[in-house]
Amino acid sequence: MPIKILKSNEQSIKKAAEIIKKGGLVIFPTETVYGLGADAFNEKAVAKIFEVKKRPKFDPIIVHIADINSLKLLATNIPPVALKLIEKFWPGPLTIVIPKRKGVPDIVTAGLPTVAVRMPSHPVALKLIKNSQTPIAAPSANIFGKLSPTEPSHIIKEFKNSVDLIIDNGKTPIGVESTVISFLDKPVILRPGGVTIEEIEKVIGKVEIKNTYENPISPGQFKTHYAPNKKLKIINSLSDLKNIKKENAGFLAFKKRKNIKGFKKIEFLSKNGNLNEAACNLFSALHKLQNSDVDIIYVEAVPQKGLGLAIMDRLKKAETK
Ligand code: TXA
Ligand code: MG
Repeated sequence: MPIKILKSNEQSIKKAAEIIKKGGLVIFPTETVYGLGADAFNEKAVAKIFEVKKRPKFDPIIVHIADINSLKLLATNIPPVALKLIEKFWPGPLTIVIPKRKGVPDIVTAGLPTVAVRMPSHPVALKLIKNSQTPIAAPSANIFGKLSPTEPSHIIKEFKNSVDLIIDNGKTPIGVESTVISFLDKPVILRPGGVTIEEIEKVIGKVEIKNTYENPISPGQFKTHYAPNKKLKIINSLSDLKNIKKENAGFLAFKKRKNIKGFKKIEFLSKNGNLNEAACNLFSALHKLQNSDVDIIYVEAVPQKGLGLAIMDRLKKAETK
């Protein structure tokens, strides 16, 4: 059976919501990356997500809601500091990890006492959740550990027969996943993402960042993740390019650079070094390079501020160890 792809419109979103209600799987756009969604309260449907994504059962899934009232279905004892961030950044690319309610299936939270929740800002995602009349559990719509999908073409090969519908809304605008922040005893950023640390600190003051993969506290903090199926190395200084073999290599530059020559394939993250544009293009550029006939991909490091922190987090996890 060929995979079913429909352009996003009222009708296709309604159809997708019917699929979610019946326990099926839908791939849908969010402002960050495409998600692979199921009814968060249907254990069998959520189990299918793990199966088709080849995701280990100990890695919990983010639950997506479309209105603040739905938070009550999922969480209790929400710390005031978390509410401050919710007020400022929802709907948007911020996921909060808070104490879960008993009714949230263990398969969603991997048995943890917490649940990760986010309210996306993408109008298609919001409409789908509303029409489904249930929160939607959705990881990124890629095979576990591989590159995240920011365009439908990134998804199609991976999930040929295993999802019921893909809603096509073109490229996702932010291009890196949501920021994940936990509120167990104090706020800790588990994954830098679409809302920057600078923006968060303006609202709640200094926060700790624990995306150092040595002792994962978020089950999803694996050392290798977001990886293309080619070797990948980060280049910290362009002067390092002098010493590498370029004939069979690809290069991903931060900005357009005229004087880089000799690579088999070159891609740019942005025209003039804009970090938002770079984040938006990150996964599509990596998809293009992995699908080309290069043996290795060299990537120029980007400044670690603003969305640059999320970009470098993904690149460090994608780097061949
Ligand atoms: O932007 C996004 O967040 C996208 C879109 C589709 O919403 N979703 C996404 O989901 O990136 P996923 O599953 O690829 O990444 C979710 C991360 C994982 O690292 C997971 O371990 C972590 O969130 N996570 C989920 N629930 C958690 C929990 N209760 N405690 C700690 N970490 C959690
Ligand atoms: Mg993911």
